[in-house]
Amino acid sequence: MIHPVLLCGGSGTRLWPLSRKSFPKQFSRLTGEESLFQGAVRRLIGAGFSEPLVITGNDFRFIVVEQLAAMETSPQGILIEPEGRNTAPAVLAAALHLQTTQPGALLLVAPSDHVVPDAAAFREAVQGAAPRALAGDIVTFGITPTRPETGYGYLELAPGSDPAAKVPQSLARFVEKPKADQAANMIAAGNFLWNAGIFLFTADTLVKAFEMHAPEVLTHVKAAVANASPDLSFVRLDPVAWANVPDISIDYAIMEKASNLAVMPFSAGWSDLGGWDAVWQEAGPDADGNVSSDNATAIGCEDTLLRSESPRVELVGIGLKDIVAIATTDAVLVAHKSQSQRVKEAVAALQAKG
Ligand code: GDD
Ligand code: MG
Repeated sequence: MIHPVLLCGGSGTRLWPLSRKSFPKQFSRLTGEESLFQGAVRRLIGAGFSEPLVITGNDFRFIVVEQLAAMETSPQGILIEPEGRNTAPAVLAAALHLQTTQPGALLLVAPSDHVVPDAAAFREAVQGAAPRALAGDIVTFGITPTRPETGYGYLELAPGSDPAAKVPQSLARFVEKPKADQAANMIAAGNFLWNAGIFLFTADTLVKAFEMHAPEVLTHVKAAVANASPDLSFVRLDPVAWANVPDISIDYAIMEKASNLAVMPFSAGWSDLGGWDAVWQEAGPDADGNVSSDNATAIGCEDTLLRSESPRVELVGIGLKDIVAIATTDAVLVAHKSQSQRVKEAVAALQAKG
């Protein structure tokens, strides 16, 4: 049995003004009928998969409950982090929790803000990776890179590994978020895949990896799980122990250091919707390259994304090219599509203003 562990504590600032601190992008309907989080849950419903374990922040707990209820799914549990400490502590807390409740558990850790259109192919890839994970490896999922993106992790295939294989391949190393020139070199070298941010391993394998590579994280997260308290249907990690937990991602804490890494190549489609340019791409532009939401109208525009998030706000673009315009009831973003990544600068500037 594979236990999906859904991470949904991130704040997704690059999709402001849709993604907000109190309602981050994973809970929004960005493409399609369901939220990204609901899509992530639905993708992992199938033979051989248990109900998901969700790990999230206190502020999002009722959004999670509501969105699961709306899709008639009950989780195997909802762990609440007292404060966000990035993904390493969140993943470890889930592994320690499952180690007790489901000894020998195989965990599939997945972000809740990605789009993977072919769910059946994805579940098949996960099943195909299971034997390798049961044998003690940490299995990553590798995407064929298309540009020297610096916001992703890179997976270097071991000599003799096949980036198009349908079974897990050995990895030489993991490089998280490289500098631009290093990313360009890796793309040119051709023996790298992007890390999808999805991991398969047994709870025991992960706990051992923390013993070896991040013992300080292990000490404090262990205490937070051991002293966790039930609250309605939630499990609250102990805030006193959690206050001492270092803030670090799983990629830096474990993946860059571990030697028992493998990759399952996955080529059936994946996007992390890491910016408005990616949302435009995923939404399927029309013949003129435009994507317009309800209450948005493009006149004489090209390669433009126009979204109104409110039925009370009409958005009209005229003669625009390569523009992203997002209107909500209290904020409007207008940006050049090629500079979508700079939205996080806007969020920082607004935060500084208070
Ligand atoms: N529960 C919880 N707690 N979830 C968190 C926290 C936290 O403190 N921080 C982030 N998350 C969730 C996010 O909501 C997201 O679903 C997932 O964990 C990954 O975090 P991101 O912050 O989005 O990571 P990233 O995009 O910078 O990088 C990761 O994903 C890339 C692919 O999208 C890395 O794994 C990269 O190597 C990878 O290429
Ligand atoms: Mg991300």
